[in-house]
Amino acid sequence: MSHEGDLYDDRHIAFLERLWGEGYLSPGGVDEIRRTLSGIDLAGKTVLDIGCGAGGITVELARTFGAAHVIGIDVEEPGCATARRRVAKAGLDGRVEIRKVEPGPLPLPDASVDVVFSKDSIVHIHDKDFLAREVFRVLKPGGWFAASDWLISHDGEPSPEMKTYLAAEDLDFGMASPRRYREALAAAGFTDIVLDNRNPFFRVEMRKDLARLEGPERAEFDAMLSPAEIDRQIRTWKTMIVVLDTGEHCPHLFRAHKPG
Ligand SMILES: C[S@@+](CC[C@H](N)C(=O)[O-])C[C@H]1O[C@@H](n2cnc3c(N)ncnc32)[C@H](O)[C@@H]1O
Repeated sequence: MSHEGDLYDDRHIAFLERLWGEGYLSPGGVDEIRRTLSGIDLAGKTVLDIGCGAGGITVELARTFGAAHVIGIDVEEPGCATARRRVAKAGLDGRVEIRKVEPGPLPLPDASVDVVFSKDSIVHIHDKDFLAREVFRVLKPGGWFAASDWLISHDGEPSPEMKTYLAAEDLDFGMASPRRYREALAAAGFTDIVLDNRNPFFRVEMRKDLARLEGPERAEFDAMLSPAEIDRQIRTWKTMIVVLDTGEHCPHLFRAHKPG
């Protein structure tokens, strides 16, 4: 599916922030960041945040998790502009930079960051081998890749229900299986690869979102987008819950280590 404009424009950013919290274009807030990092200490570290979106997480990586320097990159300007405003409001201009980039190689030198973080963004990067190699390249020896992403449970043809969901979502997703991710990370040279299936969390969260979209807040959501667009979002959430319930849609957290 090709798009004329941004997938995440200002109105959709505002809609997702209303659902998931200011600065967040994915669910789970600070708790999911903490779970993704799972003990990786960011204090004094340089961190790359791939797909920073509206910058809520990028700011927290510095403010709450103590990173000395965070580089948030994203391919869309509306997200970057929102993120820059958020960084300035948090008084973190000296420690957090937001860069609009082109899809492709990461715009950083070899061995230049301690941790690469990403939340629910690399689903947009279809070539997982290329992604794993690039993340490995920019990490310093001993560094960590800690990410959350939207995965499909298997490598074969998506089920008809999954195809219906992906068509409804219409966000140019390139979902991979846990096996595919593990292979790509190992082939790039990563060790200590751990994957954690977040399907149970998403089954609960997406039901909460759907109840809000159909509940008393509906009029406010309608005003942010349009009644037709909220109907479309509701259809998307319903088709997503079907494939979350079968387990085919299985967002995962994962961590991988670049040997020191
Ligand atoms: C669902 S949002 C998540 C944003 C943020 N990480 C969060 O959790 O709030 C996905 C983001 O990935 C960005 N994105 C898409 N393709 C990308 C690429 N090749 N490199 C970096 N970011 C990309 C989108 O523009 C969007 O801002």
